[in-house]
Amino acid sequence: MIYAPKIRQLGECHLSADAPIAVFDSGAGGIGVLREVQKVLPAERLFYFGDTANAPYGEKSDAKIRRLALLHGERLLKNAKALLIACNTATALAAAPLRARHPDRLIVGMEPAIFPALAVTAHPRVLVLVTAATERSEKFRALLRRAEKKANMTAVAAPDIVPLVEAGLADSPEMERSLRALLTPHLSPPPDAVVLGCTHFPFAARAISRVTGGVPLFDGAAGTARHLAKLLSEAGLISTKFGRGEVTLTSSDPTALPLYRRLFEKGE
Ligand code: DGL
Repeated sequence: MIYAPKIRQLGECHLSADAPIAVFDSGAGGIGVLREVQKVLPAERLFYFGDTANAPYGEKSDAKIRRLALLHGERLLKNAKALLIACNTATALAAAPLRARHPDRLIVGMEPAIFPALAVTAHPRVLVLVTAATERSEKFRALLRRAEKKANMTAVAAPDIVPLVEAGLADSPEMERSLRALLTPHLSPPPDAVVLGCTHFPFAARAISRVTGGVPLFDGAAGTARHLAKLLSEAGLISTKFGRGEVTLTSSDPTALPLYRRLFEKGE
């Protein structure tokens, strides 16, 4: 079952440099990416949509994830100059078909930050945390195969982090308990780096660090925001308006908006 309530639309229908940038995730996770986008593009209008009513995506079938991501991606593209899929799961399943349908549009996705993590030491042991759907995706499998030439890679699907972040329990005893049960078998010997391959996971970074004993954590939010800024600049789509931009937060579940606001303003 897909829950599809009436969702607020963006107000404009043109694709000028002053049109907004749409940022999309299954829920609150993409807010961390949105914060990074605002840092590098402070004068832009940013329109965030989180599909909390249908989260978690990572536990759904590939077909359902693709259907949801295409539905929201197409809707957002109608009124935005660029779409940032701030979700590793939706990127793995739906970025390619979305780009195929809109070859002329700027569509940026997420990828687990495995390659930055490989630089920590020669032939490191790297633990990658992802959703179940990302873990089984061909896109992720191909990335892992490339990384395995340079590192000892272990991918683990972490099903509890997303629901706990969505419940406002990112840094809670429940989160720590769940992480300990999931990660303890992968911590002896300890990895050299942990990659947070889902945009919800950085919100649980404190709990993850307590459980992994301070192993360096890597995520793709800042790098993706810089990449988006570069592509916008190359396409001549940087806003021509001076001054402060604006951020609009929307959700398929309006009761999630206070959480989005808190995560956006405080980052936790
Ligand atoms: N935040 C998403 C990601 O980056 C997925 C979370 C979910 O399972 O809904 O993979």
